[in-house]
Amino acid sequence: MLTLTNLPKESLKQRRTKSRIIQLCTRGRHFSRHQETLKVPMSLFRDNRQRLISRLRAKNEVSAAGAFVLLQGGVDVPFNDTDVNWPFRQESFFQWCFAVEEPGCYGALDLDNGLSILFVPRLPSEYAIWEGKLHTLDELKERYGVDETYYTDEIARVLKEKRARLLLTLSGRNSDSGLLTRETIFDGIDEFKVNNSILYPEICECRVIKSPEEIEVLRYVCKISSEAHKTIMRSMRPGIPEYTAESWFLNYVYSTGGCRHVSYTCICGSGHNSSILHYGHAGAPNNKVIQDGDMCLFDMGGNYCGYAADITCSFPANGKFTKDQKLIYNAVLKARNAVIAAAKPGVAWTDMHLLANRVMLTSLKEGGLLVGDVEDMMKAGLNELFQPHGLGHLLGLDVHDVGGYLSGHPERSNQAGLRKLRTARTLLAGMVLTVEPGCYFIDCLLDAALANPEQSKFLVREQLQRFRGFGGVRIEDDVLITENGVENMTDVPRTVEEIEEYMREEN
Ligand code: GLY
Ligand code: MN
Ligand code: MN
Repeated sequence: MLTLTNLPKESLKQRRTKSRIIQLCTRGRHFSRHQETLKVPMSLFRDNRQRLISRLRAKNEVSAAGAFVLLQGGVDVPFNDTDVNWPFRQESFFQWCFAVEEPGCYGALDLDNGLSILFVPRLPSEYAIWEGKLHTLDELKERYGVDETYYTDEIARVLKEKRARLLLTLSGRNSDSGLLTRETIFDGIDEFKVNNSILYPEICECRVIKSPEEIEVLRYVCKISSEAHKTIMRSMRPGIPEYTAESWFLNYVYSTGGCRHVSYTCICGSGHNSSILHYGHAGAPNNKVIQDGDMCLFDMGGNYCGYAADITCSFPANGKFTKDQKLIYNAVLKARNAVIAAAKPGVAWTDMHLLANRVMLTSLKEGGLLVGDVEDMMKAGLNELFQPHGLGHLLGLDVHDVGGYLSGHPERSNQAGLRKLRTARTLLAGMVLTVEPGCYFIDCLLDAALANPEQSKFLVREQLQRFRGFGGVRIEDDVLITENGVENMTDVPRTVEEIEEYMREEN
């Protein structure tokens, strides 16, 4: 049972930060969980719709009168064949346009006049027994700030009355998962002309650039998630299971920040587990007891009003870095600092990835783990041996946000390291990305590299042997690309000295 005594401590500074966060944005219709959590104005979503309408209006194919965007929202998903559902999470494109909290809805945008229309399920009156008072159409119109509301069984009639001549539906393949969007379907759709190819790239492009109001939400969820990581750092001690850290995080972001969901399964690896990139999955559910001397790699991010944070903190469980831990941590930190200093509009994300790789390999060479020329190491693929993932990815409503590989932008490279990137785009102001260099000692990769003469010639076998079982280090920040650089929205101790000071007993 959760008692006050096993909850992590909250410092005075954290309480002050919380009250600053609370003072943000308060006017108009909004999403909020509590008077102390961020009020997200519905104007954010109206502005999103407006941005999409403007982009679509500029296209010849839809400039003729009578085109409507028609999106289908998410539906309830049951646990297998049972009548129990997963906690509902809205489909991200629908969230971006309408921010509706209920499942089973549709939304339309009239491109001629900019009208927004929400269609909601007509629930039988006895649903009030299980769901409480059912909302009227007028209440939902008011709550979500749309122009008109109807029931979903009225879609065909309403669209006909409005003389819809072309419906733009959403069909596209997510470049991270390879999965297709749910394309809108409703009774009577056969009576309309439908185009399912125009909308996807345009709405993705809109989602790639965050509006000032979206940035406020991302700042909030990053701040809450940073505070949650700090709480864990301060309360950490060897002897507790990894999942205790997970539970502290979930508790903090929900109870303090109103984040009912996290953005992905929490990764709380300690010791060797910190080298397992997606540790915390069903078969390895953060259940090792943390040992004195372990490195912890905790990758967790809250989710508020659909918007995601994605933050990793790496630190020694006992609060004091060993010489080897310091060597690896500083190699990663130096790579992270180089990227944060260099990233700005006009810079290719692929170049940032390679910069991080070069800086990290140089540090590993200086630390005696590698020999030879760093450029030759890169050509031999050593960058991917120590960091078998991309430098970072677009972040927004999805933790790996859409728009990474749209047509008209660079395609995925097949070069070592770069092939792992979730985007190869040139940076633009208003993009939000993660910067997450890492260095891992993964047995199967080390064994393969040692058996490969092209790679083993750079490896100092005896030195590397020492790092078998070490695990890994990742430093992951969420950054906004500004007009001339980056704003780091993550706020956690990052240098060795800051971490050791923060974790000291007396704090
Ligand atoms: N937490 C998943 C990632 O860092 O991309
Ligand atoms: Mn992460
Ligand atoms: Mn990430």
